Amino acid sequence: MASITRKGEIPSTPQGYGDGTYVDEVFTLDGFFGDWAHIWRHRNPATPTRWSDERMIYNGLDSGALEPTDRSDPRGTPMTLLTGPGASVSLSRRTASMPFAEKNVDANQIRFYQQGSFRLETELGPIEVEAGDFVVIPKGMMYREIALTGDNAIVIFEVERSIALAEKLQDQLGFASLFIDYSTMELPDPAAIDGDASAETEVRVKYDGEHHFVTYDFDPLSDVVGWSGDPVLYKLNVWDIPSLGSSVGFTSPPSNAVLFAEDKSFFFNVLAAKPFPSEPAPRSSYGASSHMNDCDEVWLNHVASIAPETNGHIWLFPRTIAHPGLKVPPQYPENPPKAIREIKINFDTTAKLSWTPEAKAALLPDPLTAVYTSFYGAHAGVSADEALEHVRR
Ligand SMILES: [Fe+2]
Repeated sequence: MASITRKGEIPSTPQGYGDGTYVDEVFTLDGFFGDWAHIWRHRNPATPTRWSDERMIYNGLDSGALEPTDRSDPRGTPMTLLTGPGASVSLSRRTASMPFAEKNVDANQIRFYQQGSFRLETELGPIEVEAGDFVVIPKGMMYREIALTGDNAIVIFEVERSIALAEKLQDQLGFASLFIDYSTMELPDPAAIDGDASAETEVRVKYDGEHHFVTYDFDPLSDVVGWSGDPVLYKLNVWDIPSLGSSVGFTSPPSNAVLFAEDKSFFFNVLAAKPFPSEPAPRSSYGASSHMNDCDEVWLNHVASIAPETNGHIWLFPRTIAHPGLKVPPQYPENPPKAIREIKINFDTTAKLSWTPEAKAALLPDPLTAVYTSFYGAHAGVSADEALEHVRR
Protein backbone atom coordinates (compact mmCIF):
# COMPACT_ATOMS: atom_id res chain seq x y z
CA MET A 1 0.00 0.00 0.00
CA ALA A 2 1.42 3.38 -0.95
CA SER A 3 1.92 5.82 1.90
CA ILE A 4 0.09 8.54 0.00
CA THR A 5 -3.33 7.54 1.28
CA ARG A 6 -5.03 10.06 3.58
CA LYS A 7 -8.54 10.16 5.02
CA GLY A 8 -10.34 12.64 7.24
CA GLU A 9 -8.63 15.59 8.87
CA ILE A 10 -4.82 15.62 9.05
CA PRO A 11 -4.18 18.22 11.77
CA SER A 12 -0.37 18.28 11.61
CA THR A 13 2.60 16.71 9.93
CA PRO A 14 3.46 13.28 11.35
CA GLN A 15 6.67 14.86 12.64
CA GLY A 16 4.94 17.87 14.18
CA TYR A 17 3.41 18.73 17.54
CA GLY A 18 0.50 20.56 15.89
CA ASP A 19 -1.42 22.81 18.28
CA GLY A 20 -1.52 20.15 21.00
CA THR A 21 -5.17 19.25 20.48
CA TYR A 22 -4.64 15.72 19.29
CA VAL A 23 -2.61 12.68 20.22
CA ASP A 24 -0.93 11.03 17.28
CA GLU A 25 0.03 7.40 16.95
CA VAL A 26 2.11 5.46 14.47
CA PHE A 27 0.58 2.07 13.77
CA THR A 28 3.09 -0.21 12.06
CA LEU A 29 3.32 -3.81 10.92
CA ASP A 30 6.30 -6.14 10.82
CA GLY A 31 8.04 -4.24 13.57
CA PHE A 32 8.40 -0.92 11.74
CA PHE A 33 9.57 -2.65 8.57
CA GLY A 34 6.12 -3.06 7.03
CA ASP A 35 3.05 -1.01 6.16
CA TRP A 36 2.07 1.79 8.51
CA ALA A 37 -0.65 4.31 9.25
CA HIS A 38 -0.27 7.55 11.19
CA ILE A 39 -3.43 8.16 13.25
CA TRP A 40 -4.53 11.45 14.87
CA ARG A 41 -7.09 11.01 17.64
CA HIS A 42 -8.66 12.68 20.68
CA ARG A 43 -7.70 10.10 23.30
CA ASN A 44 -4.62 7.99 23.96
CA PRO A 45 -5.07 4.19 23.77
CA ALA A 46 -1.70 3.73 25.50
CA THR A 47 -3.23 4.57 28.90
CA PRO A 48 -5.93 2.02 29.78
CA THR A 49 -7.77 2.18 33.10
CA ARG A 50 -7.66 -1.56 33.94
CA TRP A 51 -6.18 -4.73 32.51
CA SER A 52 -6.76 -8.44 33.09
CA ASP A 53 -3.12 -9.50 33.21
CA GLU A 54 0.23 -7.72 33.55
CA ARG A 55 1.22 -9.11 30.16
CA MET A 56 -1.26 -6.64 28.67
CA ILE A 57 0.72 -3.60 29.84
CA TYR A 58 4.25 -2.22 29.57
CA ASN A 59 6.43 -2.72 32.62
CA GLY A 60 9.93 -1.84 33.70
CA LEU A 61 12.44 -2.55 36.44
CA ASP A 62 15.61 -1.13 37.92
CA SER A 63 18.35 -3.63 37.05
CA GLY A 64 20.59 -2.01 39.67
CA ALA A 65 18.32 -3.41 42.38
CA LEU A 66 18.63 -7.02 41.17
CA GLU A 67 20.94 -9.66 42.59
CA PRO A 68 21.84 -12.34 40.04
CA THR A 69 23.71 -15.20 41.71
CA ASP A 70 26.91 -14.26 39.87
CA ARG A 71 27.04 -11.05 41.95
CA SER A 72 28.13 -12.95 45.05
CA ASP A 73 29.24 -16.30 43.63
CA PRO A 74 31.92 -16.45 40.89
CA ARG A 75 30.27 -19.71 39.77
CA GLY A 76 26.82 -18.12 39.79
CA THR A 77 24.78 -17.25 36.74
CA PRO A 78 23.15 -14.21 35.21
CA MET A 79 19.48 -13.64 36.02
CA THR A 80 17.19 -14.18 33.04
CA LEU A 81 14.71 -11.32 32.81
CA LEU A 82 12.87 -11.89 29.56
CA THR A 83 12.46 -15.07 27.53
CA GLY A 84 10.81 -15.96 24.27
CA PRO A 85 11.27 -18.28 21.31
CA GLY A 86 14.68 -17.47 19.87
CA ALA A 87 15.51 -14.51 22.12
CA SER A 88 16.13 -13.67 25.76
CA VAL A 89 17.51 -10.87 27.91
CA SER A 90 19.57 -11.55 31.03
CA LEU A 91 21.47 -9.52 33.60
CA SER A 92 24.91 -10.33 34.97
CA ARG A 93 26.27 -8.45 38.00
CA ARG A 94 29.51 -10.45 38.09
CA THR A 95 31.93 -8.99 40.64
CA ALA A 96 34.68 -11.64 40.35
CA SER A 97 36.43 -13.10 37.33
CA MET A 98 34.98 -16.22 35.75
CA PRO A 99 36.75 -19.27 37.21
CA PHE A 100 35.94 -21.04 33.94
CA ALA A 101 35.74 -20.29 30.24
CA GLU A 102 32.20 -20.04 28.94
CA LYS A 103 30.64 -21.21 25.68
CA ASN A 104 27.02 -20.60 24.71
CA VAL A 105 25.93 -23.01 21.99
CA ASP A 106 22.26 -21.99 22.24
CA ALA A 107 22.51 -18.37 21.20
CA ASN A 108 24.52 -15.56 19.71
CA GLN A 109 25.03 -12.78 22.20
CA ILE A 110 25.17 -9.02 22.34
CA ARG A 111 26.82 -8.43 25.71
CA PHE A 112 26.10 -4.82 26.65
CA TYR A 113 28.44 -3.50 29.33
CA GLN A 114 26.18 -1.25 31.38
CA GLN A 115 28.63 -0.66 34.22
CA GLY A 116 32.19 -1.66 35.12
CA SER A 117 35.26 -2.86 33.23
CA PHE A 118 36.50 -6.28 32.22
CA ARG A 119 39.21 -7.91 30.22
CA LEU A 120 37.30 -10.21 27.92
CA GLU A 121 39.51 -13.14 26.99
CA THR A 122 38.37 -15.00 23.87
CA GLU A 123 39.54 -17.74 21.55
CA LEU A 124 40.68 -14.97 19.16
CA GLY A 125 42.52 -12.94 21.79
CA PRO A 126 41.59 -10.50 24.54
CA ILE A 127 39.60 -7.23 24.38
CA GLU A 128 39.28 -4.61 27.11
CA VAL A 129 35.66 -3.58 27.71
CA GLU A 130 34.09 -0.79 29.72
CA ALA A 131 30.68 0.84 30.21
CA GLY A 132 29.03 1.66 26.89
CA ASP A 133 30.79 -1.12 25.00
CA PHE A 134 28.81 -3.93 23.44
CA VAL A 135 30.39 -7.11 22.20
CA VAL A 136 28.96 -9.56 19.71
CA ILE A 137 29.93 -13.12 20.61
CA PRO A 138 28.83 -15.85 18.20
CA LYS A 139 27.40 -19.20 19.23
CA GLY A 140 30.10 -21.63 20.21
CA MET A 141 32.93 -19.12 20.77
CA MET A 142 34.67 -19.49 24.15
CA TYR A 143 35.32 -16.47 26.35
CA ARG A 144 36.08 -15.51 29.93
CA GLU A 145 35.41 -12.25 31.76
CA ILE A 146 38.19 -11.04 34.03
CA ALA A 147 36.69 -8.43 36.35
CA LEU A 148 38.69 -5.20 36.60
CA THR A 149 36.06 -3.44 38.75
CA GLY A 150 33.72 -4.64 41.47
CA ASP A 151 30.34 -3.03 40.84
CA ASN A 152 29.46 -4.37 37.41
CA ALA A 153 26.39 -4.85 35.25
CA ILE A 154 26.08 -6.56 31.88
CA VAL A 155 22.81 -6.80 29.97
CA ILE A 156 22.97 -9.88 27.75
CA PHE A 157 20.80 -10.09 24.64
CA GLU A 158 20.71 -13.67 23.34
CA VAL A 159 19.38 -14.47 19.87
CA GLU A 160 19.28 -17.70 17.90
CA ARG A 161 19.59 -15.98 14.53
CA SER A 162 22.94 -14.66 13.34
CA ILE A 163 23.77 -11.06 14.17
CA ALA A 164 24.49 -8.84 11.16
CA LEU A 165 25.62 -5.24 10.78
CA ALA A 166 22.61 -3.05 10.04
CA GLU A 167 24.37 -1.38 7.11
CA LYS A 168 22.98 -4.31 5.11
CA LEU A 169 19.53 -2.77 5.71
CA GLN A 170 20.44 0.25 3.62
CA ASP A 171 19.80 -1.80 0.49
CA GLN A 172 16.33 -2.68 1.73
CA LEU A 173 15.19 0.43 3.61
CA GLY A 174 17.56 3.19 2.62
CA PHE A 175 17.39 4.97 5.94
CA ALA A 176 18.80 2.44 8.40
CA SER A 177 22.15 2.51 10.16
CA LEU A 178 22.71 6.12 9.17
CA PHE A 179 26.37 7.03 8.96
CA ILE A 180 27.55 4.47 11.46
CA ASP A 181 31.28 4.16 11.07
CA TYR A 182 31.78 0.46 11.59
CA SER A 183 35.53 0.96 11.30
CA THR A 184 35.40 1.95 14.99
CA MET A 185 34.86 -1.76 15.58
CA GLU A 186 37.51 -3.32 17.77
CA LEU A 187 38.57 -6.90 17.12
CA PRO A 188 40.51 -9.24 19.39
CA ASP A 189 44.23 -9.48 18.70
CA PRO A 190 46.04 -12.68 19.55
CA ALA A 191 48.12 -11.89 22.61
CA ALA A 192 49.53 -13.61 25.63
CA ILE A 193 47.23 -13.49 28.63
CA ASP A 194 47.98 -13.73 32.32
CA GLY A 195 47.81 -17.16 33.80
CA ASP A 196 49.06 -20.65 33.22
CA ALA A 197 48.52 -21.79 29.63
CA SER A 198 48.85 -25.39 30.78
CA ALA A 199 46.31 -25.13 33.57
CA GLU A 200 43.38 -27.50 33.47
CA THR A 201 40.47 -25.38 32.28
CA GLU A 202 36.77 -25.94 32.70
CA VAL A 203 34.54 -24.68 29.89
CA ARG A 204 31.00 -24.04 31.06
CA VAL A 205 28.72 -24.86 28.14
CA LYS A 206 25.23 -23.41 27.88
CA TYR A 207 23.32 -26.15 26.07
CA ASP A 208 19.53 -26.33 25.69
CA GLY A 209 19.23 -23.83 28.53
CA GLU A 210 21.30 -25.93 30.93
CA HIS A 211 24.89 -25.54 32.07
CA HIS A 212 27.24 -28.43 31.29
CA PHE A 213 31.01 -28.52 31.08
CA VAL A 214 33.99 -29.93 29.27
CA THR A 215 37.53 -29.67 30.57
CA TYR A 216 40.90 -29.37 28.83
CA ASP A 217 44.38 -29.89 30.15
CA PHE A 218 45.27 -26.48 28.71
CA ASP A 219 43.67 -23.05 28.59
CA PRO A 220 41.94 -22.70 25.19
CA LEU A 221 41.86 -18.91 25.62
CA SER A 222 45.63 -18.64 25.84
CA ASP A 223 46.91 -20.48 22.78
CA VAL A 224 45.76 -18.48 19.76
CA VAL A 225 48.63 -17.34 17.55
CA GLY A 226 46.61 -15.91 14.67
CA TRP A 227 43.25 -15.87 12.93
CA SER A 228 41.88 -14.66 9.62
CA GLY A 229 38.39 -14.34 8.17
CA ASP A 230 35.34 -12.29 9.05
CA PRO A 231 34.87 -10.23 12.22
CA VAL A 232 32.84 -12.90 14.01
CA LEU A 233 33.54 -11.41 17.44
CA TYR A 234 33.77 -7.66 17.80
CA LYS A 235 33.22 -4.69 20.06
CA LEU A 236 31.48 -1.38 19.34
CA ASN A 237 30.86 1.55 21.67
CA VAL A 238 27.67 3.57 22.02
CA TRP A 239 29.48 6.93 21.81
CA ASP A 240 30.70 6.06 18.31
CA ILE A 241 27.11 5.69 17.04
CA PRO A 242 25.64 8.88 15.53
CA SER A 243 22.55 10.28 17.23
CA LEU A 244 19.09 10.52 15.68
CA GLY A 245 19.47 12.36 12.44
CA SER A 246 16.68 14.92 12.38
CA SER A 247 15.77 17.96 14.47
CA VAL A 248 12.41 18.14 12.70
CA GLY A 249 10.23 15.46 14.22
CA PHE A 250 11.01 11.87 14.75
CA THR A 251 12.64 9.13 12.71
CA SER A 252 11.22 5.82 13.80
CA PRO A 253 13.22 2.68 14.43
CA PRO A 254 14.94 0.94 12.72
CA SER A 255 16.62 4.06 11.37
CA ASN A 256 19.05 3.78 14.28
CA ALA A 257 19.63 0.06 13.98
CA VAL A 258 23.24 -0.95 14.54
CA LEU A 259 22.75 -4.71 14.47
CA PHE A 260 19.95 -6.90 13.18
CA ALA A 261 19.00 -10.36 11.93
CA GLU A 262 18.73 -10.75 8.19
CA ASP A 263 15.28 -12.31 8.59
CA LYS A 264 14.34 -9.13 10.52
CA SER A 265 13.49 -11.15 13.63
CA PHE A 266 15.25 -8.49 15.71
CA PHE A 267 17.10 -5.22 15.50
CA PHE A 268 19.35 -3.55 18.05
CA ASN A 269 19.37 0.23 18.23
CA VAL A 270 21.56 2.77 19.98
CA LEU A 271 19.88 6.14 20.47
CA ALA A 272 21.69 9.22 21.72
CA ALA A 273 20.01 12.57 22.38
CA LYS A 274 18.51 14.01 19.23
CA PRO A 275 19.63 17.41 17.93
CA PHE A 276 17.99 20.54 19.26
CA PRO A 277 15.36 21.96 16.94
CA SER A 278 15.82 24.18 13.98
CA GLU A 279 12.04 24.34 13.57
CA PRO A 280 9.41 25.31 16.19
CA ALA A 281 5.96 23.77 16.75
CA PRO A 282 3.56 23.15 15.12
CA ARG A 283 5.70 21.59 12.40
CA SER A 284 8.29 20.15 14.75
CA SER A 285 8.21 18.32 18.07
CA TYR A 286 10.46 16.79 20.69
CA GLY A 287 9.95 13.16 21.65
CA ALA A 288 8.21 10.23 20.06
CA SER A 289 4.67 9.66 18.87
CA SER A 290 2.57 7.05 20.57
CA HIS A 291 3.06 3.91 18.54
CA MET A 292 1.74 0.41 18.13
CA ASN A 293 3.47 -2.47 16.39
CA ASP A 294 3.55 -6.21 16.31
CA CYS A 295 7.02 -6.65 17.81
CA ASP A 296 7.97 -6.75 21.47
CA GLU A 297 10.31 -3.88 22.38
CA VAL A 298 12.96 -3.99 25.06
CA TRP A 299 14.54 -0.72 26.18
CA LEU A 300 17.54 -0.12 28.40
CA ASN A 301 18.29 3.31 29.79
CA HIS A 302 22.08 3.14 29.61
CA VAL A 303 22.77 6.67 30.81
CA ALA A 304 20.69 9.82 31.18
CA SER A 305 22.63 12.74 32.65
CA ILE A 306 19.39 14.61 33.43
CA ALA A 307 17.89 11.61 35.25
CA PRO A 308 20.76 9.40 36.44
CA GLU A 309 18.40 7.57 38.79
CA THR A 310 16.99 5.87 35.68
CA ASN A 311 20.35 4.48 34.54
CA GLY A 312 20.04 0.72 34.11
CA HIS A 313 16.24 0.68 33.97
CA ILE A 314 14.91 -1.96 31.58
CA TRP A 315 11.43 -1.89 30.01
CA LEU A 316 9.34 -4.26 27.95
CA PHE A 317 6.86 -2.53 25.67
CA PRO A 318 4.72 -5.43 24.50
CA ARG A 319 2.80 -5.93 21.31
CA THR A 320 -0.46 -5.83 23.28
CA ILE A 321 -0.81 -2.09 23.71
CA ALA A 322 0.23 1.20 22.16
CA HIS A 323 3.44 2.59 23.59
CA PRO A 324 2.65 5.96 25.15
CA GLY A 325 5.17 8.21 23.46
CA LEU A 326 5.72 11.76 24.54
CA LYS A 327 5.64 14.72 22.21
CA VAL A 328 6.23 18.24 23.42
CA PRO A 329 6.89 21.48 21.56
CA PRO A 330 10.60 21.80 20.91
CA GLN A 331 12.60 24.51 22.65
CA TYR A 332 16.00 26.02 22.14
CA PRO A 333 18.46 25.19 24.90
CA GLU A 334 20.10 27.93 26.93
CA ASN A 335 23.51 28.98 25.76
CA PRO A 336 26.27 28.02 26.13
CA PRO A 337 25.45 24.45 25.12
CA LYS A 338 25.76 21.78 27.77
CA ALA A 339 26.76 18.22 27.09
CA ILE A 340 23.84 15.83 27.37
CA ARG A 341 25.00 12.32 28.08
CA GLU A 342 22.05 10.20 27.11
CA ILE A 343 21.92 6.77 25.54
CA LYS A 344 18.98 4.42 25.22
CA ILE A 345 19.37 0.88 23.90
CA ASN A 346 16.43 -0.63 22.04
CA PHE A 347 15.96 -4.26 21.07
CA ASP A 348 12.88 -5.03 18.96
CA THR A 349 12.06 -8.64 18.28
CA THR A 350 9.39 -10.83 16.74
CA ALA A 351 10.04 -13.26 19.60
CA LYS A 352 7.11 -13.11 22.01
CA LEU A 353 8.85 -12.18 25.23
CA SER A 354 7.68 -12.77 28.81
CA TRP A 355 9.11 -11.56 32.11
CA THR A 356 10.53 -14.34 34.26
CA PRO A 357 9.15 -14.76 37.82
CA GLU A 358 12.31 -13.16 39.29
CA ALA A 359 11.91 -10.12 37.05
CA LYS A 360 8.18 -9.87 37.70
CA ALA A 361 8.88 -9.60 41.41
CA ALA A 362 10.97 -6.50 40.73
CA LEU A 363 8.67 -4.63 38.34
CA LEU A 364 8.18 -0.98 39.18
CA PRO A 365 4.73 -0.26 40.64
CA ASP A 366 2.15 1.83 38.79
CA PRO A 367 3.46 1.35 35.25
CA LEU A 368 1.35 4.19 33.81
CA THR A 369 3.25 6.69 35.96
CA ALA A 370 6.56 4.85 36.08
CA VAL A 371 6.73 4.82 32.29
CA TYR A 372 7.28 8.58 32.51
CA THR A 373 9.42 8.79 35.66
CA SER A 374 11.64 5.97 34.45
CA PHE A 375 11.50 6.14 30.68
CA TYR A 376 9.63 8.74 28.67
CA GLY A 377 10.16 12.28 29.77
CA ALA A 378 12.51 11.82 32.69
CA HIS A 379 15.56 12.01 30.46
CA ALA A 380 14.26 15.22 28.90
CA GLY A 381 13.47 16.89 32.22
CA VAL A 382 9.71 16.43 31.80
CA SER A 383 8.03 15.63 35.12
CA ALA A 384 5.61 12.70 35.40
CA ASP A 385 2.71 15.08 36.10
CA GLU A 386 3.56 17.12 33.05
CA ALA A 387 3.88 13.99 30.93
CA LEU A 388 0.61 12.52 32.16
CA GLU A 389 -1.18 15.79 31.53
CA HIS A 390 0.04 15.59 27.97
CA VAL A 391 -1.04 12.05 27.21
CA ARG A 392 -3.57 10.73 29.77
CA ARG A 393 -6.69 11.96 28.14
FE1 LIG B 1 7.90 1.61 21.45
